[in-house]
Amino acid sequence: MADNTERTFIMVKPDGVERGLIPEIMKRFQRKGYKLVASKFMKSDLAHIQEHYVDLKEKKFYPGLCKYMSEGPVFPMVWEGQDVVRQGRILLGETDPLKSKPGTIRGDFCICIGRNICHGSDSVDSAKKEISHWFKKTELVDWGPTENTWIYE
Ligand code: RTP
Ligand code: MG
Repeated sequence: MADNTERTFIMVKPDGVERGLIPEIMKRFQRKGYKLVASKFMKSDLAHIQEHYVDLKEKKFYPGLCKYMSEGPVFPMVWEGQDVVRQGRILLGETDPLKSKPGTIRGDFCICIGRNICHGSDSVDSAKKEISHWFKKTELVDWGPTENTWIYE
């Protein structure tokens, strides 16, 4: 049976925050039918970002990526629903905004790979890790939107 409780970690990056795109990005997930489980507005320190992107630590762009991600506020979120990890990546578009289709978040709002405004988990396993890296269990809200009866058959 399809899992309607799958969760993903989505985070508006500092460039997305500075450009006023938090509501626009939230809207994309909300209108699809996904459920918001957690969100917060915060500034992360460098060590926390370095851990978040630890899988990329050998890449040339890693130091610059971590610096930019820790220099301004971010808006981490958890969204829940059927196939939300994969669908979240589709809503985001490609890593490189110039390869992202219009209609996707990166395709509509940005140009540079190093300023691509939003992060999304790339697998269910990494979503689990990222959610526990950014949120305490008590920050994840357990609720059932009444509209879910009209979203899922
Ligand atoms: P994210 O983790 O931020 O959602 O991005 P992603 O999965 O689409 O791409 P990933 O490979 O995880 O890379 C993380 C972020 O690093 C920057 N990047 N720069 N200069 C480059 O070639 C390059 N490649 C990746 C991007 O900001 C990317 O989102
Ligand atoms: Mg990634």
